[in-house]
Amino acid sequence: MTKIRIAIQKSGRLNEESLQILKDCGISIDNGKDQLKASSRNFPMEVFYLRNGDIPQYLRDGVVDIAIIGENVLIEKGEDISIAERLGFSKCKVSLAVPKSVKYNSIKDFEGKRIATSYPNTVLNYLKDKGVKADLHIINGSVEIAPNIGLADAICDIVSSGSTLFKNNLKEVEVMLTSEAVLAVSPKITVERKELLEKLQFRIQSVLRARG
Ligand code: PRP
Ligand code: MG
Repeated sequence: MTKIRIAIQKSGRLNEESLQILKDCGISIDNGKDQLKASSRNFPMEVFYLRNGDIPQYLRDGVVDIAIIGENVLIEKGEDISIAERLGFSKCKVSLAVPKSVKYNSIKDFEGKRIATSYPNTVLNYLKDKGVKADLHIINGSVEIAPNIGLADAICDIVSSGSTLFKNNLKEVEVMLTSEAVLAVSPKITVERKELLEKLQFRIQSVLRARG
């Protein structure tokens, strides 16, 4: 039997809510996060638990058919991947922030500055658009510590509650984009699996309607 292969985040902010929306769609997944792959008992679906940043490439390669992923990750690494549904949860911003003590005037202040980030493409596009040149330091996590340890003058990262910025004495000065979880689709999805996707979308749409 053909099964649709869905990628969801292995651990992190999207994981729980991704499993919850599948559950609300009446799809029971056997096994928890300990395994990297699981199947549904009552829907032709296989679930792959993957690292966020790897998901766009898996979609591109057609190794998975669909994914629940932050739109911000697609903007950074998967602009070629299409979105079937916006899911309304895991809302966040991708923002530039500087130490609280710094007086901020405009985006021009970033000229020649060192920015630590996990979102280099997003930052470069944003700055290019504004005619600003900065020096990027790409790091994969704990980005907000960079100014405190002298690695950078500013950071660009996800802002959700704002508590990580606050704890690190940083202030948000530019919101580059807003994001939410989306259902993304592989360009290589087969016709058969597309039919399963349509069934899933139908259920997701009624769940989202009920959530209001
Ligand atoms: C994420 C993100 C921000 C923080 C934003 O980090 O990179 O640092 O959450 O959330 P907040 O505004 O609610 O504080 P995460 O904790 O996932 O860890 P990581 O950066 O080390 O991957
Ligand atoms: Mg972080």
